[in-house]
Amino acid sequence: MARNRFKFAQVLAVALVAGSAAYFGAGYLAGQSSGPEPLDLDEQLVARGAELYTASCATCHGVNLQGVENWKKPNEDGTFNPPPQDNSGHTWHHGDPTLLDIITNGGISDDSLMPAFGDKLTDEDMAAILEFFRSYWGPTEQQFQREATIREQGAQSP
Ligand code: HEC
Repeated sequence: MARNRFKFAQVLAVALVAGSAAYFGAGYLAGQSSGPEPLDLDEQLVARGAELYTASCATCHGVNLQGVENWKKPNEDGTFNPPPQDNSGHTWHHGDPTLLDIITNGGISDDSLMPAFGDKLTDEDMAAILEFFRSYWGPTEQQFQREATIREQGAQSP
């Protein structure tokens, strides 16, 4: 009888250890798979970027950065319509230097419908708009874009 009780205690102990290992193990894995941490954004810059965006960009790119529905399909004359700038678009695929270049000089092709803002917005204005974009992206997109910026900056320096 005493022997059986001892066994029961052993089984219970093993079950407890296994159970908590599974519990903490799952927590650990969940922690691992949650991906990168969100960036610590400059909220003042985000607010300024939001104002500038609303004033200069939202008419084409949408108040919620949603772009137009058929943005992937070229028009008959070969031009493109305003793409979204949220997670569903490809703005976050480009580093800051590329985005600043497009905002300053307009779309890549000569007949692009994306206007040049180089004489309307200052460097700080554009930096604020990019920070505002970042506030719309998930941590994965933020991290991807940050790495693209570092890559592009590395390619630019002599
Ligand atoms: C008159 C409409 C219009 C306005 C206003 C406009 N855009 Fe665009 N934008 C476009 C179009 C169209 C494209 C796609 C360009 C192309 O592929 O030729 C584009 C493309 C872009 C891109 C590159 C695409 C991407 O997501 O990688 C960025 C960045 C961008 N716009 C930022 C801005 C910002 C910032 C403003 C405001 C300061 C702005 N745009 C205002 C029409 C506009």
